[in-house]
Order: sequence, then C-alpha cells, then structure tokens
Amino acid sequence: GEAMPLDAAVITASDKGSRGERIDQSGPKVRAMLEEAGYLVSDLVVLPDEREDIEHKLREYADRGIGLIVTTGGTGFSVRDVTPEATLAVCDRLAPGIPEAMRALSMQVTHRAMLSRAQAGICKRSLIVNLPGSVKAVGECLGFVLPELKHGIAILR
Ligand code: MTE
Repeated sequence: GEAMPLDAAVITASDKGSRGERIDQSGPKVRAMLEEAGYLVSDLVVLPDEREDIEHKLREYADRGIGLIVTTGGTGFSVRDVTPEATLAVCDRLAPGIPEAMRALSMQVTHRAMLSRAQAGICKRSLIVNLPGSVKAVGECLGFVLPELKHGIAILR
C-alpha cells in the first residue's frame, strides 16, 4: 500500500570505480532517480567486477528484505562483465519482461542496446534489476521501467 516506504539499494559494478580510479556517477544517478520516484535508498556500494562479491552483496540485501536492488554496470561483453551471471545465480525466479522492455525501448535510442545482457529477477522478497554502466544508459533504461516496478514490488511484499 501507499503507506509502506519503498526501500532500495544500489550496486555499481566497476573495477575502476572500486579502486578509486574513476568517480562513480552511475550509482548516484540511479539513487537520484529512485529517490525522485519515492524510494528510500539505504545503500549505495561500488564493487569490483567479481561475480562472488556481487552475489554476496545481492544476497545480503535480499536477506535484509530490501524491496528493490538495482545494479549498474558489467552487463556488456567484456570478460570482466559478470553482473548478469551473479544475478542469475541468486535469483529464485526471473522477470525477463523487464530487460526485454528495457532493450526494446532502448533500441529506439541506440542499436547498441542489443549488446546489454542485463537480467532481472526475484531473490526472496527482493526484485533485482540490472542496468548498463553508463550514466546515459542508466537514465534511459531506468526511466523506461521504473514507473512499473512499484506494482511488481507491492505484489512481492
Ligand atoms: N541502453 C541504452 N538505453 N542506452 C545506451 O547508451 N549502451 C549500450 C547497452 N545499452 C546503451 C544501452 C552499450 S554500448 C553496451 S556495451 C551495453 O549496454 C552494456 O553496457 P555495460 O557493459 O556498461 O553494462
């Protein structure tokens, strides 16, 4: 219902970001968009592109019962891009319509959208959504799906 605060957490997957070699702008972009949509963002972490690290953090957030977990980065074709694999490993059920919508709508912006391997799924009572890494892609992809996520999260609770 309307009274329940929507809680969320953000994970940026970036080797350079985790080493402090680049300032993460994508995670803060996700956080700003979520807060604008009425979510309470309790956590924002930057992790290296290590599948086990990402899995561990996803499980921690799901164990804490956080309703929405958004990741940014690590969805492309580089050998270090493992965010979709970490997501698949922890999810009990997939929600393929979310990345399908993201890619379909993003194709109208850039055909490179077909190169994102982003996934979405449910871990316990949490919805996990992968986004690509660039600030531009975050704004577009999250913008396309965010308005519909609340309804799905409400059903999960
Ligand atoms: N989707 C949107 N909406 N806008 C974009 O600019 N970039 C694409 C794609 N999805 C993009 C997008 C590109 S160039 C790549 S390589 C993939 O996302 C994966 O990005 P990642 O490796 O940063 O996760």
